[in-house]
Amino acid sequence: MAINLGFLLVISSLLLSLSSADWNILNQKKGKYGLQITLKNYCESWRMNVELHNIRDFEVVPEECVDYIGKYMTSTQYKVDSERTIDECTVYLSTSCGLKKDGADAWIFDIDDTLLSTVPYYKKNGYGGRKLNSTSLEEWMKQGKAPALEHSLKLFNQLKGLGVQIILVSSRKECLRSATIDNLVDVGYHGWKSLILRDENDENKDIQKYKADVRKQLANNGYRIWGILGYQWSSIEGLPTPKRSFKLPNPLYYVA
Ligand SMILES: *[C@@H]1O[C@H](CO)[C@@H](O)[C@H](O)[C@H]1NC(C)=O
Repeated sequence: MAINLGFLLVISSLLLSLSSADWNILNQKKGKYGLQITLKNYCESWRMNVELHNIRDFEVVPEECVDYIGKYMTSTQYKVDSERTIDECTVYLSTSCGLKKDGADAWIFDIDDTLLSTVPYYKKNGYGGRKLNSTSLEEWMKQGKAPALEHSLKLFNQLKGLGVQIILVSSRKECLRSATIDNLVDVGYHGWKSLILRDENDENKDIQKYKADVRKQLANNGYRIWGILGYQWSSIEGLPTPKRSFKLPNPLYYVA
C-alpha cells in the first residue's frame, strides 16, 4: 500500500511539473516567491482571496482559472463547503442565538446561489470566464429552472419550524417576481414571510446599499434580524448589521 502511494505521488508530481512547464504565469511567479507553484495552487489562492474579500470587483474569473473554478463549482468540495456554512447556522441557532419566539424573530436569505443555484447557467456560459450578460441571465431566470441548494432548503425548513419569519431579499428585479416564486415553490421553498425584489428606485442604488436599506426598514418594522445567509459580501456588509452573517462560497462572479 505504502509503495503504491509513493508511486502515485511520484507520477502525479511528474504530471504536475509537466503540465505547469509551459504555463507562463507560473514561471513568472516562481522567482517572486522562491516557490514552484502549480496552476491549482495559483487558482486556489485566487478563490480563497475572493472569499476573504481581498479580491474585489472582478468582472471575470481569470482565464487560466476558469477550468479550476468550473471544477470547484461542480465538485464535492463545493457541496461540503456549503454544507459546513449551513451547519454553522444550525450551531448558532441552537446555542448563542436567543430567539424570542414572539413573531418578530427574522432571518434573511439571498436567493441566487443561496436558495437557488445559478451554476447550470454559468456552466453553459463559461463559468464566469465571460463578462456577465444580464439579459441572458434574466432570460434563464425567467424559465424558473434553477435547482435548489439542498442544505439551504434544510435550514429554511428548520427556521420555519422554529417560528422564525423568513425574509427573502434579492437583487433580482421586480419583473422576475412570478418566475422567481414559481421556481422557489417548484423546488420546495414555501412559507416565507416576504419576498423583496428591486424596483425601479432600487435599480439606481448599489446592491449593498439596497440590501442595507431593506434591513433598516425591517428593523424599523420591529423585526429582530438574527442572521443572514448570503452569497456575496454586499449581502451582509453595511448598516444595520445582523447579529450574525453567514456567507456561502461563490467564486463565479462579484456583485458590489
Ligand atoms: C446578451 O444576451 C442576449 C440574449 O441572449 C443576446 O441577444 C445578446 O447578443 C447578448 N449580448 C452580448 C454582448 O453578448
